[in-house]
Amino acid sequence: MRTIALTNQKGGVGKTTTAVNLGACLAKLGRRVVLIDLDPQGNLSSWMGININELDKSMLNVLRGDVLISEILKETCVKCLWVAPSNVTLAAMERTLANKLENDTILRNSLSPLLDHYDYVILDCPPSLGLLTVNALSAVREVFIPLETKVLALNGLVTLINTVNLVKDTLNPTLEVTGIIACMFDIRTNLSNEVVGKIKDKFHDKLFKSLIRESTKLAECPISGQPITLYAPESRGTQDYMDLAREVIEGEEKKDWWIFGRQRGKT
Ligand SMILES: Nc1ncnc2c1ncn2[C@@H]1O[C@H](COP(=O)(O)OP(=O)(O)OP(=O)(O)O)[C@@H](O)[C@H]1O
Ligand SMILES: [Mg+2]
Repeated sequence: MRTIALTNQKGGVGKTTTAVNLGACLAKLGRRVVLIDLDPQGNLSSWMGININELDKSMLNVLRGDVLISEILKETCVKCLWVAPSNVTLAAMERTLANKLENDTILRNSLSPLLDHYDYVILDCPPSLGLLTVNALSAVREVFIPLETKVLALNGLVTLINTVNLVKDTLNPTLEVTGIIACMFDIRTNLSNEVVGKIKDKFHDKLFKSLIRESTKLAECPISGQPITLYAPESRGTQDYMDLAREVIEGEEKKDWWIFGRQRGKT
């Protein structure tokens, strides 16, 4: 099982868009994928057609230890793609976590029922570096950082990487940033190219080669309740996220990212 947190403390950079669409593309390529909504905004859950105002069980109950994560998984319109939903009640967890001993590793322990049953667990983090994000970073092996390429936000990126390193040094020694994803790439402007060039200079091969171009279809698909692969299968959004998924799958060969057990479902 590969465990990946999609993290960036900046809002609106494409974390949720990437979680859903990368997840759907990995599922299309034969992987079994769980998306964990770790954002009290519940955007990912709503997108996948879940009524977040009427959740009887959610990630909040999992983090409180009331239920196993496997008990809250919901099937989606995509075969082999499941969602562990959240809603605004998760915001209360931030306070609860602050008072709990060993609060940083609660999520890691709660992922264990998923071992051996799924290939990818992808966590959609909130736009902050608070305790929910720190829990995500303590629970996973890999971090993917989606970046908006319409603005140069290197300072924020450095802060984020420092936080990842802090968690690595103190709580989770195997944690690694394995990919930076250039999102909302605007082919019409030089700025996007410039930003991508600067990220490449600074972070070398950490930047995925697949760029996610800006696209109206990608902006529309949350309303449709589907990932881009179903909403607009022929669109460049599908093309870009399928390319990214193939690149992520190529990474399976590079290093032993598979934690707690065997590699499954290879195509
Ligand atoms: N490649 C793209 N082209 C066009 N619009 C996009 C693209 N990627 C994301 N968007 C849109 O940009 C907005 C922000 O994206 P998204 O919700 O994925 O970001 P986020 O980082 O999860 O935000 P938050 O920090 O609030 O959780 C959304 O309206 C989304 O539909
Ligand atoms: Mg989001």
